[in-house]
Amino acid sequence: MKFLEGAGVSRYFGGLVAVNEVDFIVEKGEIFGLIGPNGAGKTTLLNMINGILPISAGKLYFQGQCLNGLKPHEITHLGIGRAFQIVRPFEGLTALQNVMVGGIFGSKPRKNTKEASRGAEEMLAFVGLSEKMNSQVAGLTIPDRKRLEVARALVMNPKLLLLDEVMSALNPKEVDAMMEMVTKVNSQGITVVMIEHVMRATMAICHRILVLHHGRRIAMDTPQEISQNEEVLKSYLGERFARMEAERRRTID
Ligand SMILES: Nc1ncnc2c1ncn2[C@@H]1O[C@H](COP(=O)(O)OP(=O)(O)O)[C@@H](O)[C@H]1O
Ligand SMILES: [Mg+2]
Repeated sequence: MKFLEGAGVSRYFGGLVAVNEVDFIVEKGEIFGLIGPNGAGKTTLLNMINGILPISAGKLYFQGQCLNGLKPHEITHLGIGRAFQIVRPFEGLTALQNVMVGGIFGSKPRKNTKEASRGAEEMLAFVGLSEKMNSQVAGLTIPDRKRLEVARALVMNPKLLLLDEVMSALNPKEVDAMMEMVTKVNSQGITVVMIEHVMRATMAICHRILVLHHGRRIAMDTPQEISQNEEVLKSYLGERFARMEAERRRTID
């Protein structure tokens, strides 16, 4: 049985084909990267995996179960958690309260507030936010908000965690810390599917990568192979690597 499988997955918005007959397999235990230029269909694919958007055509399976037609909360209960690209915590609540809200809706709902609070505290410690537990979310920095977003997804006890650009808008040191955190999550046995534009991170921590371009799959392979794939280089990585190299030189100077 495959862990997560997509067969001919497609999504149309009116006449626009945002995701076009994509086949993919994510193995249990992997960190699986999803890359491609803006508008390639990455977020749309993630939105179909967690049921926010219905699939227009094709099939998605999670541990052998077909996800087509399931509601987001049903998919959450199967063990698929999600951290969003646009982080939208409840601004009026503390970090702890925000994570507790997640704990109440997860695949292993907490029995009472005390238990939810303990679970949330554990998660905040795991993502390195213990000290800011009682801070209002409005006062948190961007990297802290991203950590909070991951904690909110983790407290739902997912087997599969979907991450949408959790490293964007972070500085290199913050990216390093986030890479470490994703690796730590993965080492707990949680499979990760991550959309990421920060190539040095994707290349370093992903076991395999799916590349989308205009909604189509143009490659699915190890980082090593992806970095040498001609079509990928032409459509996406060429430009990215040039920028990465320039960035590296700047850092050295
Ligand atoms: N809700 C929507 N309604 C209409 N078009 C959408 C919607 N969501 C995404 N799109 C379009 O689908 C394409 C893929 O978008 P998206 O999945 O967000 O790309 P990516 O995450 O790779 O940048 C884009 O052309 C985008 O404009
Ligand atoms: Mg996106």
